[in-house]
Amino acid sequence: MDVTDLDTSDPDARRRWFAAQDRAARADRPHALLEAYGAWELLATEPSGHTDHQWLQAREGDEVVGTARLELPLTENRDLAWAEVDVVPGHRRRGVGRALWEELVARARAAGRTRIGAEVVVDPQRSDAGTAFATAVGAVEKHREDHLVADLPVAGTAVDAAYDLVLWRGRCPDEHRAAYVAMRNQMNADVPVGELDLEATVLDDARLASSEERLMRSYDVRVAAARRRSDGAWGGYSLLFVPHGADFVWQDDTLVMPEHRGHRLGAALKSASYRELPAEVTRVHTWTAPTNTAMHRTNTAMGFRVVEHLHEVEAAIA
Ligand SMILES: CC(C)(COP(=O)(O)OP(=O)(O)OC[C@H]1O[C@@H](n2cnc3c(N)ncnc32)[C@H](O)[C@@H]1OP(=O)(O)O)[C@@H](O)C(=O)NCCC(=O)NCCS
Repeated sequence: MDVTDLDTSDPDARRRWFAAQDRAARADRPHALLEAYGAWELLATEPSGHTDHQWLQAREGDEVVGTARLELPLTENRDLAWAEVDVVPGHRRRGVGRALWEELVARARAAGRTRIGAEVVVDPQRSDAGTAFATAVGAVEKHREDHLVADLPVAGTAVDAAYDLVLWRGRCPDEHRAAYVAMRNQMNADVPVGELDLEATVLDDARLASSEERLMRSYDVRVAAARRRSDGAWGGYSLLFVPHGADFVWQDDTLVMPEHRGHRLGAALKSASYRELPAEVTRVHTWTAPTNTAMHRTNTAMGFRVVEHLHEVEAAIA
């Protein structure tokens, strides 16, 4: 077995790497929500400038039996690396995962990083290999989230009469951009991250524009926002990604600005944006910390159910 870099300039090698990762990651997870090939290929072939990506593969002969990815943030969190390791069923418990991990650690250290974070997602009914592996390599849990799904339509909530609903798709219209950047930064500062010690991402207009442009190549990006009628103050937003051609939607951020809480705006923004989705989209996936009581209750009241647990773990490598 050898561990090498993926040659990202080779389309056939890219497809084989992705197929191995996808198969390994889905093996014990019937509800897995994974990035689509096109979205991954964009990262692998056109890096964003805010993150350095390295893609490794473990091969036996010609077969890719395991994959690993290393993300080195270049703007915030420059002491940290993010990692993922996936080993194809049939090749597990033979040291492939550990060999990939050790290579990731060596590279993260060489890049001056002192800790590696990883998201380990498990279906608690099926397998805890991921958490057992994380423990074996010395990583400890810092935060937990639940992965929830709901089938559409969900129970609806009307938008409070004091607010206007503002919807857009794709690029945020010019007249709303400053307010949207402020809300996105509020979200990044407010979202509970448990004991994860992370610097919040700070967006400005240029960084938002570049992220919008990249996301739109893989997703139909939809935003629902609420603006108070009396003074025009923005109360919150909800952000959705529909992968091109998919029958499901990825519910990303939902934020209600601090002084606008208590009007059920979170549920109203979500249900308003689900109503606008094309008919072929029948399922919503979302992620919430069980400790985020307000959002967890909002979700379960709308019909979401927990299908997976996400453990955010971290290993010290200094
Ligand atoms: C987790 C995963 C990468 C492990 O790959 P692997 O090649 O089987 O790992 P290794 O053989 O190197 O195992 C290293 C150690 O991890 C632990 N471990 C791995 N799988 C385990 C399992 N199913 N049950 C208990 N312990 C396990 C053991 O301590 C093992 O050492 P040992 O075999 O000497 O007892 C693989 O199961 C997988 O791809 N799972 C899905 C993706 C995932 O959860 N990745 C981790 C998040 S980044």
